[in-house]
Amino acid sequence: MIKLKLFPKNGTLKRQIKFLLNYAILAPSGHNSQPWSFVLTDNSVTVLPNFNYSRPMVDPSNRELYISLGAVVTNISLAANYFGLIYDKKYLIDPKTKQQSVIFAFKNGKTISQDQDLFLAIINRVTNRFEYQNKEIDKNLIKSLTKSNYPDVKFTHIYSHTDKKSLSKLVYESNLLWFHKTELVDELVSWLRTDLSTHRDGLPHNTFVNIIKKAQREANLVLSSPLSIIISSSTESIKNWINVGEAFQILALKLTHYGLAHSYFNNPVQLITILKKLNQEFKLKGSAQLILRVGYPTVKPPQSKRRSLATFLKDMS
Ligand SMILES: Cc1cc2nc3c(=O)[nH]c(=O)nc-3n(C[C@H](O)[C@H](O)[C@H](O)COP(=O)(O)O)c2cc1C
Repeated sequence: MIKLKLFPKNGTLKRQIKFLLNYAILAPSGHNSQPWSFVLTDNSVTVLPNFNYSRPMVDPSNRELYISLGAVVTNISLAANYFGLIYDKKYLIDPKTKQQSVIFAFKNGKTISQDQDLFLAIINRVTNRFEYQNKEIDKNLIKSLTKSNYPDVKFTHIYSHTDKKSLSKLVYESNLLWFHKTELVDELVSWLRTDLSTHRDGLPHNTFVNIIKKAQREANLVLSSPLSIIISSSTESIKNWINVGEAFQILALKLTHYGLAHSYFNNPVQLITILKKLNQEFKLKGSAQLILRVGYPTVKPPQSKRRSLATFLKDMS
């Protein structure tokens, strides 16, 4: 695990930027696919999608891939601020390839971080798929957590019994439908790992269990968790998906900071028929992008591994 004190305070700007990337790669990604790469120069880093790790069946438009990229972008921003580095962040589209990327151009000077707690949460954030405690979350805390800093990204909280029942039904239906689509199941199976201690990507093999049991378990988890949050955005574009990922990662880090665990129910979003019902049921402007379950943890799960930083890096200087 990366240590704060290893930051090369007296090193070149390039070495400092490279150090930040150790925090960038701790971002979450669908199936822990880690679909990103970094182009490093003496004073900038560009975050790019890496389509070698796309998941064409479950994520044909690369929507989740770009959300994962957004989470990386948040980690870089927070790490740069924490270590006092000043930067301009720009969303770029390559005119030839139409490839979208995000560039951090660093400048001389120092800043003081306003978000140290969020930065410090990066190394503790994990996806926690266990049951949560039967303990309410303070309403004011929920309010503050569900404020998004991005105008096109909205967080809808679900904690009334009626809303939980509606969501639980959709989660149940989506599980049954999802596991009847062999192309989705085959792709998921290709990401399962029997021994995560020797693999640096993918999911634990017990993610794939009896379908009815999984559907029932997840439906019950919606009911028993004190809170779920639907993250939605008003339009569908690559830039918006990146913004969803940025906003989502800030939320995940806030939750971590307050000792709250989170996990995902994304099957309803991945199936168009269920997604339409979800958007209507919760009167979402635009469309749902992610569904999270939130609560106080009963168990602290181990952190999942990442590929080594060198595998993501292209050095251009
Ligand atoms: C866009 C996105 C979609 C995800 N979808 C799911 C999901 O449907 N179910 C799930 O259990 N985890 C989901 N995850 C969590 C990833 O599996 C998890 O981030 C990855 O395995 C790395 O583990 P970590 O979050 O503990 O670091 C998703 C993560 C992202 C960023």
